[in-house]
Amino acid sequence: MVTVPWAPEYPVVTPRLRLRPHRLDDLDDLLRFHSDIEVVRYIPWPVRTRSQTEAALEARTRQGVVFEPGQWLVLAMELDGRVIGEMLLKYDSETDARGELGYAMAADVEGHGYATEAARAMLDLAFGPFGLHRVVARLDARNGASARLLTRLGMRQEAHLREDEYFKGEWTDTLVFGILASEWPARPPRPPHPSAQEAPE
Ligand SMILES: CC(C)(COP(=O)(O)OP(=O)(O)OC[C@H]1O[C@@H](n2cnc3c(N)ncnc32)[C@H](O)[C@@H]1OP(=O)(O)O)[C@@H](O)C(=O)NCCC(=O)NCCS
Repeated sequence: MVTVPWAPEYPVVTPRLRLRPHRLDDLDDLLRFHSDIEVVRYIPWPVRTRSQTEAALEARTRQGVVFEPGQWLVLAMELDGRVIGEMLLKYDSETDARGELGYAMAADVEGHGYATEAARAMLDLAFGPFGLHRVVARLDARNGASARLLTRLGMRQEAHLREDEYFKGEWTDTLVFGILASEWPARPPRPPHPSAQEAPE
């Protein structure tokens, strides 16, 4: 069962990274990928200026705690003191205990498995202490790196939606990947969904 407000214990430590809430002094690191046209190509942000990144960062400093459905937990991925990217987990639905995974990373650190490592930690949190039942990811069908990442995590492609979004000036296809708590191997035990407890004997 999901209980809010919720936040993991920080920092969340993975073999090479620390995941933690953003701080205002992350600005230079964030600007490096928020202002990169290649990084934002398939995500719903513009190429950000320094002041736009500053505003985005200011919002992120309050996104280390989830208070209600609809909110994103947004964590900085820190490698040796540098913020190389961010991991996002949306608390999508209380009734359905469903979340959504998202991520973005600086181009110069791609290809080392950092995003996979951080996303694994997010799914551990999602299906462990947060108590979600299902996590999805939605991505532009042309985003091969993202689809490969989700496949590496063991997520399953469940839909290919044709031209369902008018995105950055064109109609685009969306892929939906999903995984259930029962399919997540490292999942620690969690209590049953409340509806199971309410079922008549
Ligand atoms: C999506 C994104 C995070 C993927 O980055 P990535 O570097 O490919 O992912 P990882 O950090 O997990 O690295 C995996 C790659 O490194 C390789 N790799 C090297 N060492 C590795 C290791 N120890 N463990 C896992 N993979 C490793 C893998 O083979 C893989 O390469 P491949 O996909 O060509 O086979 C990145 O492209 C990005 O930020 N894109 C822009 C933002 C975006 O589109 N976000 C998604 C919106 S849905």
